Amino acid sequence: MRTGSHLPLLFSLPAYAWAAPQEDIEHRIDALLKRMTLEEKLGQMSQSTDLAAPITDKIKQQIRAGRWGSFLNAGGPADRAEAQRIAMRETRLGIPLIFGRDVIHGYRTIFPIPLGQSATWDEDLISQAAREAALEATAEGIHWTFAPMIDICRDPRWGRVAESLGEDPYLTSVLGAAMVRGFQGDSLNRADSLAACAKHYAGYGAAEGGRDYNSAWIPEILLRDVYLRPFRAARDAGVATFMTAFNTLNAIPATGNRFLLRDILRSEWKFDGAVVSDYQAIRELTAHGYATGPPDAARKALLAGVDLEMVSTTYFDHLKALLQANLIDMREVDEAVRNILRLKFRLGLFDGRRPAAKPGIAALPAAERLATESMVLLKNAGGLLPLKKTIAKLAVIGPLADSPPDQMGTWAMDGNPRDVRTPLAAFREMLGNDRVVYASVLKNSRDMSTAAFAQALRLSAQSDAVVLFLGEDATMSGEARSRAFLGLPGSQEQLVDQLASTGKPLIAVIMAGRPLTFHRTAEKLGAILYAWHPGTMGGPAIAHLIFGDSVPSGKLPISFPRSVGQVPIYYAHLSTGRPPGPNDLGTPMGTPENPKDYTSRYIDLDFTPEYPFGYGLSYTTFRYSATRVSAPALDSSGSIEISADVSNTGGRPADEIVELYVSGPAGGSVARPVRELKGFKRVHLAPGETKAVTFSIRRSNLAFYNNRMEFSAESGRYRAWLAPDSTRGTPVDFVLK
Ligand code: GLC
Repeated sequence: MRTGSHLPLLFSLPAYAWAAPQEDIEHRIDALLKRMTLEEKLGQMSQSTDLAAPITDKIKQQIRAGRWGSFLNAGGPADRAEAQRIAMRETRLGIPLIFGRDVIHGYRTIFPIPLGQSATWDEDLISQAAREAALEATAEGIHWTFAPMIDICRDPRWGRVAESLGEDPYLTSVLGAAMVRGFQGDSLNRADSLAACAKHYAGYGAAEGGRDYNSAWIPEILLRDVYLRPFRAARDAGVATFMTAFNTLNAIPATGNRFLLRDILRSEWKFDGAVVSDYQAIRELTAHGYATGPPDAARKALLAGVDLEMVSTTYFDHLKALLQANLIDMREVDEAVRNILRLKFRLGLFDGRRPAAKPGIAALPAAERLATESMVLLKNAGGLLPLKKTIAKLAVIGPLADSPPDQMGTWAMDGNPRDVRTPLAAFREMLGNDRVVYASVLKNSRDMSTAAFAQALRLSAQSDAVVLFLGEDATMSGEARSRAFLGLPGSQEQLVDQLASTGKPLIAVIMAGRPLTFHRTAEKLGAILYAWHPGTMGGPAIAHLIFGDSVPSGKLPISFPRSVGQVPIYYAHLSTGRPPGPNDLGTPMGTPENPKDYTSRYIDLDFTPEYPFGYGLSYTTFRYSATRVSAPALDSSGSIEISADVSNTGGRPADEIVELYVSGPAGGSVARPVRELKGFKRVHLAPGETKAVTFSIRRSNLAFYNNRMEFSAESGRYRAWLAPDSTRGTPVDFVLK
């Protein structure tokens, strides 16, 4: 029941009152907005992280006064429930709060980091994982996640590459949209729907130098053709919200950027959801030198189209004075409040939405499957893997074999280390304690010590094989974790050198939040399994892969450089006028001067990546043959089919991710990338089995932005490949009329 003098107001509202669930949401917004005071409007535009656990009297009083419209990353289920009760029962208009949180790759159950999830290329499984995260989070009163992060990233120095889905706009678009669908479910107003948030809009992954928060300079043709594609896909998937990025885009901060927020997002894409700033990003407009102080920052962010201010308080503190000075208009305030109320109505918050499922960890099977599919086999010399379960003794070495917090990776705030199943525990469960010997040898991944190397050598000497865990600890990955070097940290390389000298079979499992460079080390390793930060069930996933219960199927969603000196390095690059040949792999001293060497390469390093986009080995082998096109030409209305026969030429049943690449047109209005991913399919093949894999291509699949910002497919000759990765495949040509 309501208390105080509010009662008459609510029940005196006309029939179409905002409290009537059956009414059209826009009518409900109108009915509510006209009753709101300016203070209440500014409160709705303000998001706080100060909901302590337990909730304080100060916050209760602020909620009663309508000071906050939402909270993020704060409080526990009981605090949120009490805050909501106060907002809906003890305020003048009873406007519910919305609770946001960084549910980036799982809530209680932690899935692989998004970069690892992307390596599965498994749209359905990724969507299922997001759905599971939504069930766990909404059970504890969370309504909104600040995910998916769909920043294209071609620079592994940037720590947030871990949260991204990699370098490719097509793969990021498909998988980002899958996450949106998974988080939000069939309808936003279901109790287990988690409103998603496309972030960070836009260009954050192009931070200069890979340095977090740094400037991004992206010509509009590249912005639209690469960096914005995943955001358009998220919008088309019905994402409820967008978050503005910290960085400047071409000298204008994304959080004050009318071109991004009004011209593209609202006018071109007709987005009608809510836009939230990133954490204090509105106040930071002053630090950017783009605002003269908080009032100017508030004005520029509001005029650009930011609806909701995260944590900083420039809106609440200054918009009233700006209105009085006619520097902004009430229309802009009302529009922002509309977008926020629309989100709350759509979420069913006005209509008594309650947590649905029971709280707790509920998604371990999905987490193990996703972790298994995320891991990429980079090397397997002589079929060293899988190991046999009859092995007499296995040596497990390295701190990351038994480090739950590191295994969960960055942005795992609700994961419980006690739930984590480590590789060491999984090996022991599989083989028995007496057949597994373990030594951390290093305190952590950055430990420079070599003091315990002798112990490592002793374990190796008494074992039949060594599984060495290398990589980065979680604190080297994520926000504000940019690295100038990409090598294995600490004394890890020296440890490999020592262990390699024993001649024992040496398998490396690398856990990291980014591509690392380990060329010299790779040559000394028999097998390399890249595990990313694999989450709660990473241990069983690794053990089952190492011993062959599962077969690796992951493919790289990002190019791995040989050296940080190659960055940015990505497969969908332009050809240049002097493309290097396959043998232009460096120019040793004394090489005679030769004009043919004047190509786009390095004199001191092979210009190609260590491991290319789309690459990943299996425990079997595949052959691609008979690549063919259904017709020599594609007209405007139709489609053509590109097919190839894929055979399992090895001894194990396995999945293969078949990748479709297209380039063209030759001689178009602008130079086009040497190839671009346009499709992918997972096929399962028994030993000796062959399947025809077919993709259908329509004119719309070939559209791109030219230098006049026209989005169209130009007539001309195109080339297509069905391939195991971005460097291989037999091309077939077709013409678009
Ligand atoms: C952080 C991140 C953003 C996150 C937000 C709330 O600084 O940039 O991705 O969602 O603040 O934690």
